[in-house]
Amino acid sequence: MSSKPISVLITGANRGLGLEMVKQMVDTQSPLTPLSVLFACCRDPDGPRAEELRALAKKHPDIIKVICMDTADRSSIRQSAEQVGSLLGEKGLNLVINNAAILINSTLVDSTPEDMAKTFNTNVIGPMSVIQEFLPYLRAAAKNSEVPGMSCRKAAVVNMSSIIGSIENIQAIQKYLTAVPYRISKAALNMLNACAAFEFQKEEILFTVLHPGWVRTAMGTAYAPIDREESIQGVLQVINSMSEKHHGVLTDYKGQTINW
Ligand SMILES: NC(=O)c1ccc[n+]([C@@H]2O[C@H](COP(=O)([O-])OP(=O)(O)OC[C@H]3O[C@@H](n4cnc5c(N)ncnc54)[C@H](OP(=O)(O)O)[C@@H]3O)[C@@H](O)[C@H]2O)c1
Repeated sequence: MSSKPISVLITGANRGLGLEMVKQMVDTQSPLTPLSVLFACCRDPDGPRAEELRALAKKHPDIIKVICMDTADRSSIRQSAEQVGSLLGEKGLNLVINNAAILINSTLVDSTPEDMAKTFNTNVIGPMSVIQEFLPYLRAAAKNSEVPGMSCRKAAVVNMSSIIGSIENIQAIQKYLTAVPYRISKAALNMLNACAAFEFQKEEILFTVLHPGWVRTAMGTAYAPIDREESIQGVLQVINSMSEKHHGVLTDYKGQTINW
């Protein structure tokens, strides 16, 4: 029996891991096929940093819809939710990937209140606002599904976090990177996910956290051991295999559970 087409939304889809997700998802070999629509969100869809995304959207006009969304700006998130809602119809939205984030690499001594506020605004308040604004469409998808349980084909939010937000792993990681505002923001994102997992359990909307590995992107730097293709191949397989076992859990791109 073939799977029903699913609708997906990705934030920060114009470069790095977000763009790689878009690339791999429109490939017919992707584990997440078939797609009905892929909302590729970015804050400057007409600017030079979205050139590759625009070219990809031109190649797949029936699937990729480029949407303007600044995840540090609540009114921009609300406007994009209205736009997405008008394109979606009644079936709702199956999968939201909160991917956009920033990293300020400062120590505790160097971190300013502005660094912290900016990082929290994008990495924590952004994903929270996305969850809130897109909740009606996730709820519609969960209600419309005839399948019991949880999955990304029903209604799910994947929050892209990082092992470096793990308090338990601090000893192992501190020597490579300080990035205090970023690490605190990812620990907070993990808690946001835990709260959402608790609150939406009964509605069978899956909330999960993923660590994509240390990857060669602008954020991950050229020193990272793995490339985008490898990371996202793993990420998409993990997302596709998710069930209620992943609800409220932090997993890496290989499907291994990570301690908080
Ligand atoms: N790379 C790694 O090694 C690694 C490891 C662990 C976790 N992660 C996580 O994986 C995700 C993707 O990381 P990446 O490596 O792809 O980072 P990246 O190359 O720096 O890309 C970040 C993306 O987020 C977007 N973004 C930032 N602020 C935004 C805002 N206010 N509104 C909309 N978009 C915004 C950027 O768009 P602009 O072009 O407009 O700036 C860009 O598309 C992040 O959540 C990151 O924390 C990455």
